[in-house]
Amino acid sequence: MSTDAQTLILGGGLMGLALAHTLARQGREVAVISRQRQEAAGFVAAGMLAPHAEGLSGPLLELGQLSLARTPDWVARIEADGGLDCGLRNCGIVVPFTTAAERDAYPTACFGTSLDRRGLEAQVPGIGPRWQAALLFEQDGQIDNRRRLMRALERACVERGVRFEEGSEVLALQTDAGGSLVGIQLRRADGEQTCRSCEQAVLTGGAWSAQLLPQLPIVPVKGQMLSLQGPRQALERVVFGPGTYLVPREDGLLVVGATVEPEAGFAAGLTPAGQRQLEAGLAELLPAAADWPPMERWWGFRPCTPDQGPLLGAGPIPGLWLATGHHRNGVLLAAITAELVAGLMQGPAPLATPARLLRAFRWDRFRPRAAASDPPPG
Ligand code: GLY
Repeated sequence: MSTDAQTLILGGGLMGLALAHTLARQGREVAVISRQRQEAAGFVAAGMLAPHAEGLSGPLLELGQLSLARTPDWVARIEADGGLDCGLRNCGIVVPFTTAAERDAYPTACFGTSLDRRGLEAQVPGIGPRWQAALLFEQDGQIDNRRRLMRALERACVERGVRFEEGSEVLALQTDAGGSLVGIQLRRADGEQTCRSCEQAVLTGGAWSAQLLPQLPIVPVKGQMLSLQGPRQALERVVFGPGTYLVPREDGLLVVGATVEPEAGFAAGLTPAGQRQLEAGLAELLPAAADWPPMERWWGFRPCTPDQGPLLGAGPIPGLWLATGHHRNGVLLAAITAELVAGLMQGPAPLATPARLLRAFRWDRFRPRAAASDPPPG
């Protein structure tokens, strides 16, 4: 197989698979290079589609709303190609508050329905007594990323001819005399170091992106999670409390997230303090669930940038594109990320998305403008 014409995806998490699938559908030859796919945030996240419940604002809210609107079609393409269900649920998300004043001051309050205590009890039977008011965002939802979406995307990619190279670590990017990307150096699972040429590559390395490209302002923010097996339909809505959220899957599995531990760096493992925090948050939100049998406990690393928005589009090296840094919103932003970055890679044809919005997610937006010498996106 010729490798020169291949587009390489550097990172096998959700963004990597979403880009690989979209590019393969455009007729490109695509290979996904990944070190250890199971550590990707796409397997770790709770799968909320929550631009309103998360209280986003500015360009990130706009990007999130665009992605939310595109997600059903994106999911339909994955399901059509791979034949597996992604677990998309338009279940709505409830954000509870201790006072009506807190509710009314929430940044996205104007997009939700205001509820008093009675309305909240009707939406979330068994909600803890502390919560007196709420916002219901009917338009927000969830995808069962950990058990379904990632597997469905893998299948869809394979059906579209994407090649996977799991266990391969990208050691360096190779450029020509003009500074353009010509290939990568990698270490394969068997220890062999080798070079691969490519025309273009997309960096989708999540929290690990800066290990390959240190100028990218991305740091890991650890999150711990747990899940419990509840009765089927005990909870219909996602409940997004301050510090703890509850995501009920269709079969009654309740995903409880998540700690926010920037100080942990890449420290692996669960901690007693983190797990206690989740259990306390669960008991406050839904006291009866504290008795449900625990199923799993896990952790992962969100890729965080200084403004918590992703890095999208052209990177610092011509030929290298970026789709990384999605922090708390990777599952939400996957559909628009794949569409935008694949669109930019196609060439200068105008995209439906305003240039203003694309500029808001350039990788060099944090640098003083005079120092930003890289070409504009697309
Ligand atoms: N999106 C929720 C989280 O990152 O915990």
